[in-house]
Amino acid sequence: MFRYLRTCILALVILSCVRAKTPFSNIRNVKRGFLSDLLNTSAVQKGVNFAGEAFADILGPLSSFAVAVAHIFGTDQETPISTANNKNIIDAGYSSEGFVYGFQSEDARMSIEDLIRKYGYPVERHRVTTEDGYELAMFRIPSKGLPVFLMHGLAGSAAHFVVSGPENGLAYLLAQQGFDVWMGNARGNTFSRQHISMKPSEAQFWDFSWHEIGYYDLPAMIDYVLENTSQKTLRYIGHSQGTTAFFVMASDRPEYDKKIEIMIALSPVAYLAHVRSPLIKLVAAGTDFVHAIVKITGIYEFTADTRLSHILKAFVCSAKPSFTLMCHIPLLLGMGVSVAHTNVTDLEVLMGHTPSGSSHKQYVHFGQEIVSGKFRKFNYGSENNLKRYGSVEPPDYKIENIVAPVVLFYGPGDWLAQPEDVEKLASRLPNVVVSYNIPMLNHMEFLIATDFRTVIFPKILYWLTQLR
Ligand SMILES: *[C@@H]1O[C@H](CO)[C@@H](O)[C@H](O)[C@H]1NC(C)=O
Ligand SMILES: *[C@@H]1O[C@H](CO)[C@@H](O)[C@H](O)[C@H]1NC(C)=O
Ligand SMILES: *[C@@H]1O[C@H](CO)[C@@H](O)[C@H](O)[C@H]1NC(C)=O
Repeated sequence: MFRYLRTCILALVILSCVRAKTPFSNIRNVKRGFLSDLLNTSAVQKGVNFAGEAFADILGPLSSFAVAVAHIFGTDQETPISTANNKNIIDAGYSSEGFVYGFQSEDARMSIEDLIRKYGYPVERHRVTTEDGYELAMFRIPSKGLPVFLMHGLAGSAAHFVVSGPENGLAYLLAQQGFDVWMGNARGNTFSRQHISMKPSEAQFWDFSWHEIGYYDLPAMIDYVLENTSQKTLRYIGHSQGTTAFFVMASDRPEYDKKIEIMIALSPVAYLAHVRSPLIKLVAAGTDFVHAIVKITGIYEFTADTRLSHILKAFVCSAKPSFTLMCHIPLLLGMGVSVAHTNVTDLEVLMGHTPSGSSHKQYVHFGQEIVSGKFRKFNYGSENNLKRYGSVEPPDYKIENIVAPVVLFYGPGDWLAQPEDVEKLASRLPNVVVSYNIPMLNHMEFLIATDFRTVIFPKILYWLTQLR
């Protein structure tokens, strides 16, 4: 295994040397407009959509079969084998100096704080310590208005709320309306890789999934915001895993439910039985295998912001205009094949700020949900489940107990949060105010659509200003 890994690294070193000789200045100046125009023709959009649906239809049965097989064989997770987090192995022996500069857009390379200031907004950074010792960073666009708390999705960060610029970025739109905007960062991402006693180089640091993000991180950040603003309640907006973690918190720590004026869920993820992306389903079917490899190699930190990810992004996403499309393709095959609502420039900024780092266990936990079709706690295998939970199967989250009012935004174009799964969630949540089924948006576009400002934001604004 290690030999294989070393070969891969060697290949990358050679590639990066070759690459380093290419003058980036030439590449950077190539015009990208034709790609935007190309993607903006209805024939191309229809073609992409047709190809995507065909891909899902053809590979769908195969991936469903793989998931069914994984379901039969079940899971038996054990404790980690490697006690170190070997991210340094991935980064050893080569430099990514200069690679991130392949991005043409300056915004892709700026820090989140500089980015927010660039567009004329004030920004504060806050530090919050959780009950179990993780130190999280929060970003705030301060104002005297009502506090709104924003929580990002998997492999994301607070940056996801500003990457689509002042015209469309959710954080800016809220600030323009006078809200006090607080953006959270989950443990393990670029801004929250700290703990009072553990180091990110230890395996133990990464022993968390979105369960812990919901159970510890959200309550700590919510209490901090309420304390700082002297409020009793706040308004919560989550995207993707930012909704999953909310549902964990609201079902396991009902006292926090009362602190939520309203919860707005963009692409809500709880049940995952109907995931449409064959790619994601195939990976999910191999969850146990992937988990075993992770434990042997000690690569507990997934989708980290590493030198390797900078190099890959420079190669795939930004070298030439046409490559932006290549960067787009894996995203589309996971998130849904809509291209009509994505701004290519914004996509580059998104890629500049993604991935932000997360734990392998978050992916494994999602993989388990896809295979089991349930929304339940992490599956440690029957013996360990019995010790932890007092039952052979992990317990379900108690969605029926969530009293906070919830607004759902979802649609068939989202290959992760499919209507069947969201409707099942809605039928169990006691207090769904309204569900908006919006066709033609993929998973990311529920946050960064070119028409977010006109299609989604007015609805959000309406519900933020309604009282409980
Ligand atoms: C796409 O085309 C429409 C008109 O066909 C235009 O209004 C819009 O601004 C274009 N969008 C982009 C991203 O170029
Ligand atoms: C795409 O995003 C860039 C940068 O945010 C912006 O300048 C441009 O106007 C956007 N294009 C459209 C059609 O929204
Ligand atoms: C809230 O945070 C700001 C910025 O750090 C600080 O100046 C202010 O004193 C805090 N307010 C309270 C009540 O803690």
